[in-house]
Parts: sequence; structure tokens; C-alpha cells
Amino acid sequence: MTTRTDHHRSDHGPVPDTLLSHVAEFEGDIDRVLITGEEIQAKIRDLAKSITEDYRGQDLLLVGVLKGAFVMMADLSRHIRLPLRFDFMAVSSYGASTRSSGVVRILKDLDHDIEGQHVLLVEDIVDSGLTLAYLLRNLSSRRPASLEVCALMQKPEVQQVSLDIKYKGFEIPPVFVVGYGLDFSEKYRNLPYVATLKPQAYEGLVG
Ligand code: IMP
Ligand code: MG
Repeated sequence: MTTRTDHHRSDHGPVPDTLLSHVAEFEGDIDRVLITGEEIQAKIRDLAKSITEDYRGQDLLLVGVLKGAFVMMADLSRHIRLPLRFDFMAVSSYGASTRSSGVVRILKDLDHDIEGQHVLLVEDIVDSGLTLAYLLRNLSSRRPASLEVCALMQKPEVQQVSLDIKYKGFEIPPVFVVGYGLDFSEKYRNLPYVATLKPQAYEGLVG
């Protein structure tokens, strides 16, 4: 006979059992939690509510910017009470470094034409804003019926170009963060919160 233990609890609220081992493994690298999982989920619900109201009666295409936006896109889309279609683009960002090069390269383009469609671009974070500025120029040249942006985070103090972001989550200070889709060197994307890393987590990778 096996003995059942109580459901595991963590400081970050209820976390699905499948995430617990990953969180435990990474948590030694975390310096400070900037945005908790609960705060993110509450914000995502608010954003989804606005989007649902604004696009009522219209067909909406969500375009996610890989890889960072995949977690947010999954949560956001399930709170949008509209029929949705999905597409993704992948662009190069920082590689293993934590600073923007300003060079944007399309690694994966959209699968479908967006001409005449209502497009909502979903981004994890706007840092310098160069990636988003490039994507907006690129996508608007394809003549969508409308093009708006939903970004979970923005670092206003370091943004280099002004951008019209209709659906904004959180403004954060100019620090490098991981979690909720955001990585450092492809790690930490599956943390349910947004946090900074201890200096030791960067060792040997930044130079
Ligand atoms: P930007 O072009 O400087 O605005 O950078 C945008 C992209 O860089 C985002 O889509 C992220 O992939 C990445 N990025 C920017 N800031 C951070 C961060 O603090 N943590 C992880 N990735 C980031
Ligand atoms: Mg990245």
C-alpha cells in the first residue's frame, strides 16, 4: 500500500505538480522575485478582458514572438473569449548574452498571410524596443486590417524608440529578468514568476 502525502505547497502559491521539481532545481539561482505568479495571472486576466471587449465581433489573429511569449500566449489566449487563430514568429535576440545587439533576424516567419486581418502581436518584454519596432514595421508592410501589441513587461528607462503598446502588463526597472517564458541562456522559462538571477547564475556565460 502506498501512503498519500498532502499536496505539496510552495511560497509562490499553488503550482502544478509537474512544475515543482523544475522550480526546486532552479530556485537556488533566483535572487529576487519581481512579479509573483498570482500577479501575472491577475494581469493576464485583465488584459484578456480588454482584448475580448475591443475585438468583439471580429476575427483575431494572435501572433506570438518566440520563444519568450509562448507561456504568456498560452495563458492569455485561454482567457480571451473570442474565436482565435494563432501564428508565431521567431526572431533572434540576445543569444547567451543579456544585452540587446539591436540586430534583429527572422528565424521563423509566419505560416500565413496577414493581409486584411486583425493582428495582435504578443511579446514577453520590451527592453530597448528595437525588436518590437522592427516587427511592427515588418508586419505593417503586409497590410493587416489592424495591428496592435500586447506586451507583458516594459523597461521604460532603457527603451530607445517610442512605441505604441496598447495592452501593457508591467513596467519594470532596467534589470535582466527570467521566468514566465523569459530565459537566460535558454533556462528558467518555466518558472511561474518573473525574477532576477544571482550573479553566480551568469558565471562563465557573460563576457
Ligand atoms: P529589445 O529589442 O531590446 O526590446 O529586446 C527584446 C527581446 O530581448 C525580448 O523579446 C526578449 O527575448 C529579450 N529580453 C529583453 N530583456 C530581457 C530580460 O530582462 N530577460 C530575458 N530576455 C530579455
Ligand atoms: Mg530571449
